[in-house]
Parts: sequence; structure tokens; C-alpha cells
Amino acid sequence: ERPDALPRDLEGRRILVSAGGTREPLDPVRFLGNRSSGKQGYAIARLAVQRGAEVTLVSGYTAGLADPAAVDMVHVRTAEDMRVAVGKHAPGFDAVIMAAAVADFRPSTMVASKIKKGAGEPDSIALTKNEDILAGLVQSRRDGEIPSKTVIVGFAAETGDADGDVLTYARAKLARKGCDLLVVNAVGEGKAFEVDHNDGWLLGADGSESALEHGSKALMASRVLDAVDQLFRTL
Ligand code: CTP
Ligand code: CA
Repeated sequence: ERPDALPRDLEGRRILVSAGGTREPLDPVRFLGNRSSGKQGYAIARLAVQRGAEVTLVSGYTAGLADPAAVDMVHVRTAEDMRVAVGKHAPGFDAVIMAAAVADFRPSTMVASKIKKGAGEPDSIALTKNEDILAGLVQSRRDGEIPSKTVIVGFAAETGDADGDVLTYARAKLARKGCDLLVVNAVGEGKAFEVDHNDGWLLGADGSESALEHGSKALMASRVLDAVDQLFRTL
């Protein structure tokens, strides 16, 4: 990569990115987590800096990624920590890009001491829903708590099934979340209905849909930032 060769088209923009997965504690040594590597969010943060933006990265757990150079880092553990960190920073940013894999549920109680195996069958784990950070941001914008011109971007990894294909689910998710842009990754089985070579789509709240052909995370990052830059110029 030659940062000097990149356009400085994001100069003066402040971009908040979330990345990685959250961990929801069950007891002092155990958690519910996910397999997010954090790579896509980190690639976006890195590229945004190279294109001239001021970037803050709210990061959960990753596959051992190093903090990117020239990015303000906020490390968090749980979905609730991430919600608080994103909520605190969002008002000062031109865009919020939610690439993080936020846990949908947490164990309802954090047990203070390590759960013992005991002699009998184990207890079930009761779960509580975590707040939806992305939907909360959209609501805050509606309520005027963050500027109306703040660009809000969500991510979704979708599979098709007997009831619908990836795009159908993704369009419904975009509508449900109310964000400006949804970056859709078509994952796993059920891709038979999709056109060859398309690994995903960029769906805009304005109805725009563009295919994301298979490529590196850096290429995906550049496509996402191009779309965000486009929104900066139109919103
Ligand atoms: N997200 C969030 N807060 C949550 C859950 C998800 O901000 N508690 C964000 C993710 O960072 C992502 C987007 O919402 O940008 C979509 O996440 P996804 O898991 O695909 O959506 P859900 O609404 O949780 O739907 P489901 O997991 O049932 O598909
Ligand atoms: Ca989810």
C-alpha cells in the first residue's frame, strides 16, 4: 500500500468505526462470544485514515489484530460497553460505520464466582436481549441527539433459505434498521439464486443497490468508503 497515492477525499471528515466481536460474561472465566475477526472494520479504519479522515475505532475482541496507526482506539468488552462508547462518541462524527459483530443476547446474570460442575445435570443459561446499537443511533438522529447529516452504516451477513434469498432478507433488514447504507455479505449455503461472483451488495436507503464483487477486505473497505463519501456530498 502506498498511502501517498490515495486520494485525500476524506480530509476533514470524522469517522467512527466499530469492529470485532463482543463477549458477554457468564461467570469470571466464561463468556458468550462470536467468531468475528475484526478484519473488515479495521481495514475500513485504516483506509479512512489514509484517505485523510480522523478515525476513532471502537473495538471488541479480534483475531489478535494490532491497533492501526493514527487511529484513536477505544477497546470494549461487552455489547453494553460498545453501546455506551459508540453513543458517547457518535455526536462528534460525520459517519458511524457499525462493522462490529454485536452479541444479540447476554447471559441474564453474571455469576460472581465460577460455576461449579457439580454432580447433577447443568442449569440452562437464561438470556437477555442486548440493545440494538445501530437502531439506537438511527433513533438518536431522529430525536436530534446526533446531527441529522450524520451518515449511519450497518453491516449484515446473510444466508438465503427456502423463504427468501439474501437480497430479500437484506432489504428487510435495511428497512428495519433505518440506516443510510447496509453492507451485505452473502455467506454460507443458499447462494444458488445469486449471480456468480457477487459476494454481496451495498444497499442504500434511497433504494440504490450495487453488487460487491468478491475481493479483498481492503477492496471492500474502499467500496464502502466511496459510498459513504458519496453520501457526505448528498446528505
Ligand atoms: N448491531 C448493533 N447492535 C446489536 C446487534 C447488531 O448495532 N445489538 C448492528 C451490527 O453491528 C450490524 C447490524 O446491526 O451493523 C446488523 O447486525 P445483524 O446481526 O445482521 O442484525 P440483527 O438485527 O441482529 O439481526 P439477526 O442477527 O437476527 O440477523
Ligand atoms: Ca445479530
